[in-house]
Amino acid sequence: MTSNTPRTALITGGSSGLGLALARALDAGGWVVVTDARDADRLAAALAGTTVHGVPGDVADAAHRAELTHLVAELGGLDLLVLCSSTLGPLPMRPIAELEPEQIDEVLRSNAGAPVSLLVALTGHLHARGGTLVGISSDAAVSHYETWGAYGASKAALDHFVLTWGVETGLPAYAVDPGDMRTPMHQDAFPGEDISDRPAPETVVPHLLALLGQRPPSGRYVAADVAVPVEVA
Ligand SMILES: NC(=O)c1ccc[n+]([C@@H]2O[C@H](COP(=O)([O-])OP(=O)(O)OC[C@H]3O[C@@H](n4cnc5c(N)ncnc54)[C@H](OP(=O)(O)O)[C@@H]3O)[C@@H](O)[C@H]2O)c1
Repeated sequence: MTSNTPRTALITGGSSGLGLALARALDAGGWVVVTDARDADRLAAALAGTTVHGVPGDVADAAHRAELTHLVAELGGLDLLVLCSSTLGPLPMRPIAELEPEQIDEVLRSNAGAPVSLLVALTGHLHARGGTLVGISSDAAVSHYETWGAYGASKAALDHFVLTWGVETGLPAYAVDPGDMRTPMHQDAFPGEDISDRPAPETVVPHLLALLGQRPPSGRYVAADVAVPVEVA
């Protein structure tokens, strides 16, 4: 790859919230961006006006992951994988003792098992480019909130996979807690509550871009703690 070759990123869950905000920012910055989401119409509408490759599908579907991997190969490689798609599990959120076994399995599979299977399929491409892995985490991965048990456990598992992958490959790997954001997922977690005081997901993007630019040691980061360089006019 020459220095003029655009960098390529795959972001899961790019029709809404943080995944969409990051996809738009990287696209505007000249990256080749691939993203996905299950609702094809919403994905197409969200990506209108960008050059982002939108691939409808469920990250938990092996055929969809194969499609993403094939597209990455066609595009020539991968510099950045952001595992951002996520589910809260059954709504309204409920205590662990009220979860069905299938619901527990589904949250762990959607938020940890399936994204990590995508990572496994793309590890060769990341190695070839010295690429970076970002797993979007949550404070629920390290704190214990009533009704957040399955989601929090899935995020803790994702963190563990991401950071162990970093140790095993020697490539930069970050588990990033974005903090509260005003998104559909957040509204689902707090039904009926006014969440207009939460920051927009676009406010997290400069911190993610700073992380990618600075490439600090692999580890767990809170996005707001990653300093954004001040632009000199
Ligand atoms: N919002 C917060 O306050 C907050 C706080 C801490 C951490 N986070 C984390 O930040 C990340 C982004 O969250 P967000 O709030 O921006 O969410 P969001 O606005 O609800 O967007 C979630 C995106 O993921 C897609 N998605 C969900 N499940 C998928 C699957 N199985 N396969 C493919 N795509 C899937 C959704 O589209 P479809 O539904 O069409 O698939 C959508 O594009 C998540 O990892 C979340 O856990 C959020």
